[in-house]
Amino acid sequence: MQQLSNRKRLEKKSIGLVPTMGFLHKGHLSLIKRSRKKCDFTVVSIFVNPTQFAPNEDFNKYPRNLERDKELLIENKVDALFLPSEKEIYPQNFQTYVEVKDISKILEGKFRPAHFKGVTTVVSILLNSVKPDFAFFGQKDAQQAAIIKKMVTDLKLAVNIIISPIIREKDGLAMSSRNSYLSEKERKDALVLYKSLSHAKKIIGEGERDSEKAIFEMKGIINSVNTSRLDYIDIVETSSFKQSREFELGKEYYILIACKIGSTRLIDNIKIKIAS
Ligand code: PAJ
Repeated sequence: MQQLSNRKRLEKKSIGLVPTMGFLHKGHLSLIKRSRKKCDFTVVSIFVNPTQFAPNEDFNKYPRNLERDKELLIENKVDALFLPSEKEIYPQNFQTYVEVKDISKILEGKFRPAHFKGVTTVVSILLNSVKPDFAFFGQKDAQQAAIIKKMVTDLKLAVNIIISPIIREKDGLAMSSRNSYLSEKERKDALVLYKSLSHAKKIIGEGERDSEKAIFEMKGIINSVNTSRLDYIDIVETSSFKQSREFELGKEYYILIACKIGSTRLIDNIKIKIAS
């Protein structure tokens, strides 16, 4: 991979990387399209990264369909697929981890304590393997994107991080490889995530300035289906990821939610700007 990348660099081609764990959907494809538009050479990596799953999580049953993924990559004119083995990424006696401290401990980090350390470590390795000019991530995982941006700033990595909006199903459910776990009833119930986010956006647009109130109303919507079990709803400033109770004029916030529907854990978020 590094040699291929070096060759492209000598040919003065700009390189884009879209890191994924496969089982590709339109969310992934939107990142690929963005990379193809911006870069001369687009690399997609597929690697289900064991270090970002806790022992009790779904690493073994994480959905995989490499043949279909390859077809989608060809259809979408991706230039190269980087498909490393677990041994190539984590050879025997691997010992080095990358950790972005504070922002990895809140929200998702509270429920998945080692998760982001696994993400930042594997993304570092992927960036060093592909050496892209641009790397593309989704707002679907807004905290992940913010952590990766912080890592790139702190470590002075020579890559630009581009964040793309969330791609949703027609009815609003954020696309995710994990949606394939949902039963028919759960798939319907899962709409409460987007419904609650949209409701909060609406009332804040109408003038609600107390985030606790918005969160309270969101909880009502989440609890209206009996398959839901809320992990958290939080409202943070987009740049710092700091929590705030009162909204300030002109600032941008993420409303973030993590919720189990049956045994499937889903995350979603929405960006709001307080009109000045
Ligand atoms: P994965 O869940 O496969 O997601 C790969 C990229 O696609 C991430 O940047 C994610 O935010 C983006 N994405 C997922 N669903 C999306 C949607 N509905 N709309 C827009 N973008 C979406 O995130 C990971 O893999 C891993 O943690 C990884 C970064 C590859 C490191 O292992």
